[in-house]
Amino acid sequence: MSESGIESMAKSSLKFDPPVQFASTAHVKSMAEYEKLYAESIADPEAFWAGRAAESHFFRKWDRVLEWNAPFARWFVGAQTNVSYNCLEHQIARGRGDHTAILWEGEPAKSDGSPRDVVRLTYRQLLVEVCRCANGLRKLGVQKGDRVTLYMPMVPELVIAMLACARIGAPHSVIFGGFPAQAIVDRLQDAKSHYVITADGGWRRGIIVPLKANVDQACQMTDLVKKVVVLKRCGNDVTMTAGRDVWWNEAFADCSDQCAAEQLDSEHMLFLLYTSGSTGKPKGILHTTAGYMVYTAQTAKYIFDLKPDDVYWCTADIGWITGHSYIVYGPLQNGVTVVMYEGAPNFPEWDRFWAIIERYKVTKFYTAPTAIRAFMKQGTGWPEKHDLSSLRLMGTVGEPINPAAWMWYHETIGKKKCPIVDTWWQTETGGILIAPLPGVTPTKPGSATRPFFGIEPAVVDKDGNDQPRNVGGLLIIRKPWPGILRGIYGDDARFKQQYWSQIEGHYFTGDGARCDEDGYFWIMGRVDDVIKVSGHRLGTAEIESALVSHPKVAEAAVVGYPDDMTGEAIAAFVTLKGGVKVDDMMKEELKRHVVGQVGSIARPKEIRFADALPKTRSGKIMRRLLRELATKGRVDGDTTTLEDFSTISQPADDE
Ligand code: WTA
Repeated sequence: MSESGIESMAKSSLKFDPPVQFASTAHVKSMAEYEKLYAESIADPEAFWAGRAAESHFFRKWDRVLEWNAPFARWFVGAQTNVSYNCLEHQIARGRGDHTAILWEGEPAKSDGSPRDVVRLTYRQLLVEVCRCANGLRKLGVQKGDRVTLYMPMVPELVIAMLACARIGAPHSVIFGGFPAQAIVDRLQDAKSHYVITADGGWRRGIIVPLKANVDQACQMTDLVKKVVVLKRCGNDVTMTAGRDVWWNEAFADCSDQCAAEQLDSEHMLFLLYTSGSTGKPKGILHTTAGYMVYTAQTAKYIFDLKPDDVYWCTADIGWITGHSYIVYGPLQNGVTVVMYEGAPNFPEWDRFWAIIERYKVTKFYTAPTAIRAFMKQGTGWPEKHDLSSLRLMGTVGEPINPAAWMWYHETIGKKKCPIVDTWWQTETGGILIAPLPGVTPTKPGSATRPFFGIEPAVVDKDGNDQPRNVGGLLIIRKPWPGILRGIYGDDARFKQQYWSQIEGHYFTGDGARCDEDGYFWIMGRVDDVIKVSGHRLGTAEIESALVSHPKVAEAAVVGYPDDMTGEAIAAFVTLKGGVKVDDMMKEELKRHVVGQVGSIARPKEIRFADALPKTRSGKIMRRLLRELATKGRVDGDTTTLEDFSTISQPADDE
């Protein structure tokens, strides 16, 4: 990628027709049918979405499908509904009450490799647990509109808590269990959240993650928190603060199992989810009720071709948007069995995922390219030990999938008979925007292919002019769709600036892309200062501010560079304060410091010390040079505007 524009990538020649049998039973049966529905959805989006929304339950129907005052969209205006109701009672009413809703397995394994802890909950049983939790939350003082923070392991109670919050109209804010105390504090404060649900700990690679201790540490940095509900998961020692902390069982067990779902306005806030942007602290991405509900239900239905007898497994953590939309809300609204796994993919061995697929006869499997690459590196022996013949479809998300990983997935896991859906979307988009329809869209490894119904993506130059086919540019979405974010919590100015100011009136994704001769989209990565490490999104500014918060650091600049395993890796260029010794100990200290502030996913792979950072005469750090340096170990590009060459002259110091 050059600074003046985005260079087009080489054309990929690989193209796969979908397996023939799949389409005969699919929701959409041919490319012609897709083209027809797509054209209708673009010509009259309101009629299209009204039709799709008819599959959901509404207490009160909408007066208008869409109200669009750019950049603010309101969908199903005037309607009343409840997502929790749609995931539970609506499924029971469709005859799925005794169907398994959640099939969970914990990480600890017995000596024969079988899981120690397994929980199965039918839709009816899940409803009971959700009602108890909802009533319990109310008893603790949670009211409609209160933000409830969930900092939990991947256990059924996390889903129960989300659906309980949704039931009473208390927006949830889920924080990834791998984040440190500082990240909890930042999110609690931004959301002004008084209630936290956590667990004593969670299992990860045979070790207990001390979740409750992290919450305690966070509570020392802010006095916002009134109540902490603690689930007993690992049995590790925790300190309970009288008056503030209460055990999950004690708080919820005696509560009534009846709790009518609140009839919520279509635009009532459903949740906040914090994500990294190109500047400063993570932003609270705001999603509301009806639009998100309909969009996740419909994308899950068509893109994973969900049917009630599906055993569907998405390996994401619920701490990310993928878990929200495609473990919880999308699949449950389709009445399928959702498999959920607590721990690491390689515990106790590298075949854990394949063992789970075999054990529960998983039919639809959704994971990330970074996981596929990690499995690929371990060889075909692990998947070959297991019967994967139940698989009918596989998906990927989070970053571009390289053709080699795609081929391995296709051949070794899918045995060449499963369509692969490469799904492009973002925390902000609520659901998948670009993806093949399985069994229908011919796939090209590395491309997310064509837009979903109602989605109008375009590749444009910086003035908003359409780029010719196969020329890279900025990826925008021309019109709003039901799942679009409604804002950044408490910051309309940042919302407008970040997404709506580049190309007036259109949603700017932050991604670069090109569209090929068949109308297929090829995502080329971020054009802003967001890095994707193992599919996780990190802002360079967030890591830089963590580095400069270290007392010995004067200045820092962070860039991403290509990495075979993680997609991108983090390189940090640091200038230290006068007199501080530059050595490996210092590197380790800084890496630890970043982990403590932002989390282990933000750990820089490489740290380089410099006397000064390369800046333009106007003082802007020249990231392009740093990226080149991190990638190639040298700088070939134009350096005429560079003020200080000292960084460039430092020898490469790869680890
Ligand atoms: C990247 C994850 C290529 C992209 C759901 C986007 C992808 C960012 C793909 C959003 C894909 C996601 N192919 N790139 N299939 N899916 N991305 O918010 O850069 O964690 O902007 O949402 O991930 O990351 P987020």
